[in-house]
Amino acid sequence: MDNSTANAPTFSIGGIPVFGQLILAPMDGISDPAFRWITRRLGSALSISEFVNTLDYANQKHYQKSRLSFRAGERPFGAQLLDNDPVRMAECAAAIYAEYRPDFFDINLGCCTASVTSRGAGAGMMRTPEKVASVFQEMRKAVPVPITAKLRLGWDDDSLNYREIAEIAVANGASMIALHARTAKMAYTGKARWRPIAELKACLPVPVVGNGDVTNTAQARQLLEETGCDAVMVGRGAKSNPFIFNWQDRDQVSPAELYGLMRYQLEEMKAFHPAGALLPFRKFLKAYLEPYGVPAGQLKAMLTCKEEHRLIELLESVFSTQGLEDFERAAREFRTRMQ
Ligand SMILES: Cc1cc2nc3c(=O)[nH]c(=O)nc-3n(C[C@H](O)[C@H](O)[C@H](O)COP(=O)(O)O)c2cc1C
Repeated sequence: MDNSTANAPTFSIGGIPVFGQLILAPMDGISDPAFRWITRRLGSALSISEFVNTLDYANQKHYQKSRLSFRAGERPFGAQLLDNDPVRMAECAAAIYAEYRPDFFDINLGCCTASVTSRGAGAGMMRTPEKVASVFQEMRKAVPVPITAKLRLGWDDDSLNYREIAEIAVANGASMIALHARTAKMAYTGKARWRPIAELKACLPVPVVGNGDVTNTAQARQLLEETGCDAVMVGRGAKSNPFIFNWQDRDQVSPAELYGLMRYQLEEMKAFHPAGALLPFRKFLKAYLEPYGVPAGQLKAMLTCKEEHRLIELLESVFSTQGLEDFERAAREFRTRMQ
């Protein structure tokens, strides 16, 4: 149970070999190309983009490009689509395939934002099983690569139709199913229920990825063992500890590793956030520094800082109290690791 690239793939997605059992979950505003790349280099077995709203794609919104950029070393890379119109999704998939050549497409059946579900997209589509079939049928005609789905348990506790939806998706060509083991109504509250992951694993002929509430390596092992799933997707837990993909818990990450990560990530993010990387980086900054008990005033200064060089000075003052002395060396070593 590790992420080493041994000869035999852990599983495959419609013929695409996948090595490893931990996967970064797609997260809007988090799994941008920089973070995806870092997690891949640390051991995440594959990448899935933040959702691409195909309505927006048709309108040529610039942000799509930053979501779909990936390096050759990041393959297998999947582009995730979100919409409620099978034909529009298929047309968008064809356009994305022509331009970016992702290895596979993933259908978002899990987004629970009201504006999305109210138009029957994301988890809202789980309420119209016939549309799920139609999405897979249209997509398969449009692109020559595997198509996967990421779903929830169902809309609410009175409509737990994950099995029906997964079986429809697979019957219509889905090559992998990821299950976020919550209902749409639960959003991100309560506790993920892993038993349905085991149920899907037992009945589906394609790889099953379990997801929900894994924040450390013991939980990842537990989910794999309890459900027999092929891999575990880690979402929010990865935001504070991307080293989990190297099977390292947060308390096993040294200040040098964490400082090196932060410098590298900030630098990489600049390419994908033309309006400035400091703002989107703050989400990570807070999560990364949390275990160090940084005094509130010092943390606030970092979270409101508008100049990169000043932020680095402030970071160095935090990390010097953690015993780190050679900042440039820590940054260099992490950069080398990412090559
Ligand atoms: C900020 C945020 C953004 C998310 N964006 C997406 C998304 O774009 N596509 C998707 O399928 N799921 C998205 N999710 C759901 C996650 O992929 C994952 O299913 C969920 O966070 C549960 O896993 P966790 O308990 O490990 O965080 C998002 C979750 C969060 C917290």
